[in-house]
Amino acid sequence: MSAFKPVRGMRDFLPEEAKIMKYIENQARKTAELYGYKEIITPVVESYELVAAKAGEEVRLRMYAFEDLSGRKVALRPEFTASVARLAATTLRNEPKPLRLFCVGSLYRYDEPQKGRFREFWQSNFELMGSNKPEADAEILLLTNRLMKSVGLKNHKFKIGHVSVLRSILSREGLTEEIQNQVMQRMDKKLHDEALRMVQDAGASEKGIQTIKKLVNLRGEDISKVLEDMTNTVKDYAEAVEAVKNLGEILSLVAKSGEKLGIIVDAGFARGLEYYTGMIFEVYVPELDIALAGGGRYNKLVELFGGEPTPAVGVAHGIDRIMLALQEQKVKTCMKETQPVMVIPVSESLNAEALRIAETLRMENIPVELEVMGRKVSKALEDADRRGINHVIIIGEKELKEDAVVLRNMQKKEQTTIKIRELATILKPSQAS
Ligand code: HAM
Repeated sequence: MSAFKPVRGMRDFLPEEAKIMKYIENQARKTAELYGYKEIITPVVESYELVAAKAGEEVRLRMYAFEDLSGRKVALRPEFTASVARLAATTLRNEPKPLRLFCVGSLYRYDEPQKGRFREFWQSNFELMGSNKPEADAEILLLTNRLMKSVGLKNHKFKIGHVSVLRSILSREGLTEEIQNQVMQRMDKKLHDEALRMVQDAGASEKGIQTIKKLVNLRGEDISKVLEDMTNTVKDYAEAVEAVKNLGEILSLVAKSGEKLGIIVDAGFARGLEYYTGMIFEVYVPELDIALAGGGRYNKLVELFGGEPTPAVGVAHGIDRIMLALQEQKVKTCMKETQPVMVIPVSESLNAEALRIAETLRMENIPVELEVMGRKVSKALEDADRRGINHVIIIGEKELKEDAVVLRNMQKKEQTTIKIRELATILKPSQAS
């Protein structure tokens, strides 16, 4: 037995799991098409400076960062947003807005491995750039809902907040951006007491502290009630009132879309990434306490990377976690599978003929598995049976003289002699299952 195994936090996906991962990825790609997002492919290795800029302490400290052989400080991407913002600031700078971009691939974070938390994971990522309108935020929420529904998830819920509610109060209370980031990190980890202590130590007024304390405890599914309570709580902070209004506009558009989204508005909600400036959200299912997706509005990142001021909003869906949720909810993914046909030569001298017939069928888009183990027909048939193959083509000397082969139906245990030229027509309708 070899001593080699995957590195801690890394996984192999065997065919069954790989199939589900690809299925989710394809649903995400379909969603991108439905909403007009163009797919791009960005590099796994990015400059450290770029991905570290606004990643937030948590992600920053967990990056796979290293020097390449020329001494460049690089990192394996921990997310897509920085790469897409880089493109918007450079190559795509002059593209007409809005820009709708989609990407899918693997990301790397040195997180502590546990259920649903891996060091290599996959996201489908959507960015909508150039619009500061609530319709853009609503679109990101709706497309996320569409993807969750299309893969077959049940009872998913959106947790939604607005970073500007807390941040504008912290600003008015004189906290520097650096301290604000630290407070938001604590909030993200639900270390509310620690966060409040920090706000106090930074010299915030008693009113400021009390306002934040109230916000932290404000959440619920009755959207208009929570929004009203939020407005009353922050009434002395004009920018925070604006933020609540903006959140209200987004949620009102979502409500009018005709889609019913399960939504919890959470006034004290914060996310680890530091670039968010507006609405933020995560998606949960009752079976798991980790988020299946996360996103929000970030209006300053493209500019920070040297681009034109470009308001933007986006989301990333965790493909691994969606798979986990599907398994937890015992959802049967409806994937079309084409059953291969097995081709077995009765003797070695007919190998080339078997290969030729297999290729002819593949040209007709019929998947074929060729017997390559040199087994006797009986053994090869046993194997086909074990693997649930429906049709086997047996190539024999006698039939070949008549340009024919034996076609065996494994379930019915019946076989007939068929002309080779008729094979494709006979096999085609039975392929889809
Ligand atoms: P995020 O919340 O860091 O946001 O990640 C989005 C999703 O990726 C999470 O909700 C989760 O499903 C998945 N994910 C994150 N870390 C792991 C992990 N260690 N193992 C498995 N899955 C994980 C972002 O990445 C932002 N770039 C989203 C965004 C796009 N915001 C605006 N545009």
